[in-house]
Amino acid sequence: MDQPKVIITREEISNKIAELATQLRKDYREKNPLLIGILKGSFVFMSDLVRAMNIPVEIDFVRLASYGTSKDSSGKVKLIKDVETPIKDRHVLVVEDIIDSGLTVRFILDHLSLHKPASLKFCVLFDKPSRRKVEVPIDYVGFTVPNAFVVGYGLDWNEKFRYLPDLCILEEQD
Ligand code: IMP
Repeated sequence: MDQPKVIITREEISNKIAELATQLRKDYREKNPLLIGILKGSFVFMSDLVRAMNIPVEIDFVRLASYGTSKDSSGKVKLIKDVETPIKDRHVLVVEDIIDSGLTVRFILDHLSLHKPASLKFCVLFDKPSRRKVEVPIDYVGFTVPNAFVVGYGLDWNEKFRYLPDLCILEEQD
């Protein structure tokens, strides 16, 4: 059974979110931004981020499915829950937990662009740049993480470990 080993603590995550929120507060003040979280993984990050920003924002969620094995996606992304708020002429900030191949972000960028938002930016807490298959513009990044499967702080492996407050890697245990 794989055991989670902490690589980024809850305190480090909280400090980084405070930094991101300070920048976002400056960039989005008076713009009534719409934050769109990508379910399920971003739910913890989103809830901490909006409270740290502490300015008026609206929120919505999309849900995507990517097909493949539990630790590697096949490259096919499908929308299973669309955004419910009209986004035309809105300042949209997409909130994502982790970017790996970049395919999810590329899909949502293309999808939301069709509806002509006033602006469309991406905020990602964890970035695995070594795994990128497609280049995508990321405007706000929390941490760069190594090429390993990570769990905790909302991220799962087969729906397990989302509840862990720290970011962990799974280590094999005999
Ligand atoms: P991408 O489309 O390959 O960039 O993958 C993004 C999605 O894959 C994220 O929204 C996560 O749901 C999932 N994912 C990628 N890497 C990890 C990981 O290390 N742990 C947990 N989920 C991951």
